Amino acid sequence: MTCNVRITETGSYVPALKVSNDDLSKIMDTNDEWISSRTGIASRRIVTKETTADLCGQVAKQIIQRANLDPAELDFIIVATMTSDYTSPSTACLVQSQIGAKNAFAFDVTAACSGFIYALSIGENFLRGGRYQKGLIIGGETLSRMIDWEDRSTAVLFGDGAGGVLLEWTEGNKQFLQTSLHSDGSRALNLTAGALSSQTPFMEEPQKSVSAKLAMNGRAIFDFALREVSTDIQNTIEASGLASANIDYILPHQANTRIIDGIAKKTKIKREKFLTNIQNYGNTSAATIPILLDENIQSQHLTLGSEQKIVLTGFGGGLTWGSILLSL
Ligand code: ACO
Repeated sequence: MTCNVRITETGSYVPALKVSNDDLSKIMDTNDEWISSRTGIASRRIVTKETTADLCGQVAKQIIQRANLDPAELDFIIVATMTSDYTSPSTACLVQSQIGAKNAFAFDVTAACSGFIYALSIGENFLRGGRYQKGLIIGGETLSRMIDWEDRSTAVLFGDGAGGVLLEWTEGNKQFLQTSLHSDGSRALNLTAGALSSQTPFMEEPQKSVSAKLAMNGRAIFDFALREVSTDIQNTIEASGLASANIDYILPHQANTRIIDGIAKKTKIKREKFLTNIQNYGNTSAATIPILLDENIQSQHLTLGSEQKIVLTGFGGGLTWGSILLSL
């Protein structure tokens, strides 16, 4: 039997507090009809005391338990997040400490809503390089701490959560069939968050005060997603030598159901093949894809080892986007 890099376990965790669209309409000028018809979101989970590291730690513990794994066996932990509790230490180092993965190296990846795709690809390459055996890849966010709660056009879109996978160099067929990663920094300012203030006694000119809150040109991101992501999915499938008809499911970043409808139309891939859970969680950025993957594996809609062909596809701030075609 040959060895390959394979996802061998998954996990996910969301905070307990469920906030419905009607709940939001009590604290801002919005309503369920606008949010559900424009985005497909019905509710989201919001932290009341947990942080990003707590959510990611819960995912790591769940995966370790499900895989019956000794945390000392982990070679690395990569967390994709844009809402790290600190810039340093990384969330991945905080997770390492929570689970006692004393032999692992740990770091964060920041690629906004494409973060999990980037992190999974980095992890795959570490393992394929032959030096390492096992790694955890987690996408986790507490966007509720970065949202501008005064801005109804973004506040209603996001939620908190985390999901992840155990990646191993192990016996089995090739699982990672094709990967594509992209960025376009020339369109960077369409989505900003976490800006650092430049007000120091040494700055030559007084700096405008900057907001660290998330700000987004929704229409520009919408158009970008439809165009680039549709092309990326088609190119990724074609480069693998497969046809769209061979793909069982697409697991897209959960930003807006209208974007997913549009991508299905553009790619001419049946809408039923696009899995969603945005109705329950909103946009959890780097966490949407691993939560969706875990939920579908737990419900046995997807099965590891089944060789179902799925495409994970992310897009967001940076601007960044990318896809990974897996044979589960
Ligand atoms: N409730 C009620 N009305 C609202 C709300 C709200 N929460 N938000 C905006 N409106 C109003 C606006 O004020 C506007 O009113 P006006 O016409 O009187 O001026 C009207 O609704 C329409 O607003 P638009 O912004 O044009 O609405 P649109 O149909 O474009 O939908 C949305 C906005 C949902 C943000 C959409 O553009 C979108 O989904 N964009 C993509 C976002 C995305 O994918 N982000 C992913 C990346 S995130 C990341 O990387 C972290």
